[in-house]
Amino acid sequence: MKNNKILVTGGAGYIGSHVVRQLGLAGESVVTLDNLSTGFEAAVTSGEFVLGDTGDDALLENVFTEHDIETVMHFAAHTVVPESVADPLKYYRNNTASSRTLLEASTRHGVKNFVFSSTAAVYGAPDGNSASEESLTRPINPYGTSKLMTEWMLRDLAAAGGPKFVALRYFNVAGCEPSGTIGQSTPNATLLVKVACEAATGRRPSVKIFGTDYPTPDGTGVRDYIHVDDLACAHLDALTYLRNGGEPQFLNCGYGHGYSVREVLAAVERASGAPLKIDEEPRRAGDPPELIAVADRVRDVLGWTPKYDDLDTIVRTSLEWERKIAAHDPTAYWAA
Ligand code: UD1
Repeated sequence: MKNNKILVTGGAGYIGSHVVRQLGLAGESVVTLDNLSTGFEAAVTSGEFVLGDTGDDALLENVFTEHDIETVMHFAAHTVVPESVADPLKYYRNNTASSRTLLEASTRHGVKNFVFSSTAAVYGAPDGNSASEESLTRPINPYGTSKLMTEWMLRDLAAAGGPKFVALRYFNVAGCEPSGTIGQSTPNATLLVKVACEAATGRRPSVKIFGTDYPTPDGTGVRDYIHVDDLACAHLDALTYLRNGGEPQFLNCGYGHGYSVREVLAAVERASGAPLKIDEEPRRAGDPPELIAVADRVRDVLGWTPKYDDLDTIVRTSLEWERKIAAHDPTAYWAA
């Protein structure tokens, strides 16, 4: 076990748990901090677990005093775009203000490196439907704004001598750990692949397509879906990069090509071997028609090499996890 400890906030959540697992396999010493509002302790497969909130300064003080934290990986956040529109202050509190508290404690305790879970939502609806790191950041919902403000704090703090950082701007994360040890069990899921797999396993009556009149080849929204284990790997690559003295970076995490909602649903039908019940609905507020990553920099800067750039693999791994939940497999976990 390596001496330099890594604090993972939100490590019991969907993406955080996949990173904790990979850190454990790499021999890193991990402390997970999670309030279990949407996460599962069973998802934390390595290191120590601390129950609590990222915005709790007294708790952070204890954690940082007890553990010699070299690197913070910060995932804890609310992530539902429509909810952020309805209740913006919830997002500015949990995503922005709590990040500020965490950054202050990290600086006080001499944390060297910070890896931040950012989002393509910082770009809003970019011209030309793809976004590079040079594209303007013009979020169109409070979720994206709450994350962008944290990026700004990281940038300004690093310039003032605080932790070096890599902010990873995730595109559409999907899929589950391919051997089925952990998966996506977020309650009240809204993300397309998860929702479609719930419908395919009978946990929902149908799946809705939000908008069939977009200016895309088949009229439905197009996104850049990235497998969660490839995304998790980018975090370990960011850790190596920062340990080697790398300068702060904002990096897109996607594959650089997209699929429409109909293509995703067809992949779910292929994987499950049965047709889905599909309802066509009007557009969902705040959705851009198409959002694809220009994703060269993450490969160039971090040496990131994805392994699962294949829609059928993404969907199959999601469906396998969903089937474990539907079968009440005791090696899975889910919200009652
Ligand atoms: C959004 C954010 C992303 C964030 C994620 C988490 C933007 C541009 N992106 O992704 O940064 O991490 O939310 O909440 O704000 N769809 C359906 N039916 C469904 C669900 C989705 O048709 O039941 C469609 C959507 O209209 C969209 C696509 O599927 O075209 C993907 O939607 P979703 O999985 O919700 O992710 P985003 O909204 O793209």
